[in-house]
Amino acid sequence: MASRGNFSNQFGFIAAAAGSAVGLGNIWKFPFEVTKGGGAAFVVMYLAFCFIFCYPILVAEISIGRNTKQNPLGALRTLGSKKWGIVGILGIVCGTIILSFYHVVAGWSLGYFVEIVKGNFDIGNSFGDFVKDTSPRTMPNVTFYTTIFTCLTAYIVYRGVKQGIELTSKILMPTLIIIIVVLFVYGLTLPHALSGIEFYLIPDFSKINFTVIYSALGQAFFSLSLGMGTLITYGSYLDRKVTIHKAAAYITLADVGIAFLAGLMIFPFLGFMNDGVLDNVEGGAGLIFQTLPLFFQELGTPGKVVGPVFFLLLSFAALTSAVSLLEVAVTYLIDEFKLKRRTAVLIASTFIFLLGIPSLLAHGSSSFFSEFITYGNSEKATDFMSLAEDLANDSLLPLGGCLIAFFTVYIWKKHNFYAELKRGSNLKADGFVIKYIMFSLKYICIPILSIIFILTILDHFLGIQLI
Ligand code: PHE
Repeated sequence: MASRGNFSNQFGFIAAAAGSAVGLGNIWKFPFEVTKGGGAAFVVMYLAFCFIFCYPILVAEISIGRNTKQNPLGALRTLGSKKWGIVGILGIVCGTIILSFYHVVAGWSLGYFVEIVKGNFDIGNSFGDFVKDTSPRTMPNVTFYTTIFTCLTAYIVYRGVKQGIELTSKILMPTLIIIIVVLFVYGLTLPHALSGIEFYLIPDFSKINFTVIYSALGQAFFSLSLGMGTLITYGSYLDRKVTIHKAAAYITLADVGIAFLAGLMIFPFLGFMNDGVLDNVEGGAGLIFQTLPLFFQELGTPGKVVGPVFFLLLSFAALTSAVSLLEVAVTYLIDEFKLKRRTAVLIASTFIFLLGIPSLLAHGSSSFFSEFITYGNSEKATDFMSLAEDLANDSLLPLGGCLIAFFTVYIWKKHNFYAELKRGSNLKADGFVIKYIMFSLKYICIPILSIIFILTILDHFLGIQLI
């Protein structure tokens, strides 16, 4: 196996893993999923899923990685049998699909940074035109920004784990949090802000239906970078001295906390923009891109500074997540094919970039990819990027999580899992934390995630509603 770097200490690991977790999922995706899911009821489901399902699986993934010091495929094969490698492959495939569209949205963020530096706050009103313009003749446009972003991600992964990943996470996240809090406080002073907060925080449980359940579940996995081996890979670089269950708790809290704050930032402003009526807000992939520039404009002169800094930091948050996605494929190529890091990065990035082209074109520039397929109960055609999102987030990630829970409980087995958890901690085998983790993996994650997975495929893709 190729030699591996290590994270310098517990803080470095948490910073890097939280850097993977915190990204477009929290700031771009979470708010629009909340609007699609009917507001606070979605938020409650999301929070519950993060703690009930995701935290235990997070602990399991990190432990598997640290125990084997291998990529997801190698790790599962070593602890289980050859056929368990398929779950590792599933994770790598899923990460590849996610990164292919992640680059595109991150490219939008980078482009917005440039536009807002130029003082073009009106870009909020022309989001549709901005994402549609992909022609090589009108550069710099989204094609240019997506390419730049892909190269940046590749460069950081090429530089290796320690230098690249840790550093970016440690400095940028606190700054991003400060800006979000400032925008939240300012947003509260606007008229109708409270109706936004109400929509976000006071649940109307009659809005919960099966679609809300699987979207909230997919969002929880996506946001925590779970179910596809990112944390197995990061765990493989982890020092034996680190207390895994504590590190996982910090990562979960940081990720959920930032998503929650992002909601607090955007909803008061949405209340203001929609004169207090949020029920009909069309939340889609454009939500933050359409609203935030107007928010910065509303801020007046401070907005000229806060606006560009926000989109720059969002791009960086996306970068630390993209790096963790690429790292999975790269570690796999290095470990399994004995490639040099440089070659592995080149192959993986080029492939993922090409796979992302349909998603780049799926926002109006190609009608084929913009109205790609019609499935389930929907009468409207789904664009290519939404298909990739649906497939990876709502289906493959929870499936991956379920299989990892199954693997930990029945294949790797309790005593081995405990032995790994006990390294670097004074955890007692009969303590509450360990009992909770094991109980959740065995009796909650495995049965419930498998049922939800089956129902999701039936409902979402085949249009068959059993409940
Ligand atoms: N968690 C990242 C985000 O919220 C996305 C991601 C998903 C990263 C899966 C790695 C693995 O933006």
